[in-house]
Amino acid sequence: MLEAASLTKTYVTAQGPWRAVDDVSFRIEAGEFFTLLGPSGCGKTTTLRSIAGLETPDEGRIAIGGQAVFDARAGVNLPANRRDLGMVFQSYAVWPHMSVLRNVAFPLEVHGASRREAAEGARRALDLVGLGHLAERSATLLSGGQQQRVALARAIVRPVRLLLFDEPLSNLDAELRIQMRVELRDLQRRLSATSVYVTHDQEEAMALSDRIAVMRAGRIVEVGTPDQLYLRPRHPFTARFIGQAELVPADLLRRDGGGALLRTRLGDIACEWAGDVAPGPASLLVRPEHIELHPPGTDGPNTAHGRVLSVAFLGKLADHEVDVAGLRMRVQTMSTARRAPGTEVTLRFPPERCVALAPE
Ligand SMILES: Nc1ncnc2c1ncn2[C@@H]1O[C@H](COP(=O)(O)OP(=O)(O)O)[C@@H](O)[C@H]1O
Ligand SMILES: [Mg+2]
Repeated sequence: MLEAASLTKTYVTAQGPWRAVDDVSFRIEAGEFFTLLGPSGCGKTTTLRSIAGLETPDEGRIAIGGQAVFDARAGVNLPANRRDLGMVFQSYAVWPHMSVLRNVAFPLEVHGASRREAAEGARRALDLVGLGHLAERSATLLSGGQQQRVALARAIVRPVRLLLFDEPLSNLDAELRIQMRVELRDLQRRLSATSVYVTHDQEEAMALSDRIAVMRAGRIVEVGTPDQLYLRPRHPFTARFIGQAELVPADLLRRDGGGALLRTRLGDIACEWAGDVAPGPASLLVRPEHIELHPPGTDGPNTAHGRVLSVAFLGKLADHEVDVAGLRMRVQTMSTARRAPGTEVTLRFPPERCVALAPE
């Protein structure tokens, strides 16, 4: 449905040329919810604006539904208003001094609908985002969440091939953000709208996306489903950026179809493997919530002796800092199972939850 190939964009700045997007390629299926996730400044917005036609890449090609909308070599560059896209930005971007209804009807009028047709279409879109009852209100008299719903209604009021979102929930307070997340995902499913979503919030990306592209410094590090990226990341950057990660320097002794064996300060650890890891220097990835705490002296493979240094009570969960062979590791348990500082423990690293990765 959407294909981006070798997109590159260099800005000229006072400090010289700055490559904001560096050889970015991906492909999105029809109906898919695809997210660009990465730290601030990594090139997400530039990539999204290139798809929208608001930014012109230096190199590369963008096709929507098989039609090239941008091709640097062929000199193709369709203007934004001819790409059939709906867009929602971080800023609410509602037009003041207009009613909610007119705000949403406007794109239809611009595209030639009569005032009556436009109003009917706008009402349908407002019903879809749960704002039907506020159609006559002035758009400036709405809360942030309601304004963002207006922007969403405006994005879907015309049949569009693609919906683009740039951090649309970032300005909302935490509770509303989570609620809107659910509504957005619901709406996207009902419309089967192919969507490209930009965020720096890994939890939001996980909750919304079919697939996520993790970006760093203008490049895509890796692409995967939320499950893959969390349980089997291929890259240490992904492991740290999504969720919490304990990464222990290791030596990969051997690797076969299913598993790998790592030599670490914790002892030899049997694990799975992912990415470009070969015999030699490697990292052991294990998530704090996957490490098990057992009574001291519990023997077995993938275990190590440790001592609890400190514990933070988080309500449902407890965060332990544990000294293991001179390493400080985080271990998260249900708070009902928390151990007091000073407690001797055996840590167990479940092999199916440990991943051998390339070294950091
Ligand atoms: N118009 C511009 N001129 C110069 N540099 C820019 C411009 N727009 C973005 N940049 C730079 O390009 C990089 C990527 O920006 P952006 O795509 O907005 O990142 P993100 O959305 O991931 O935060 C950043 O370093 C940013 O400062
Ligand atoms: Mg941005």
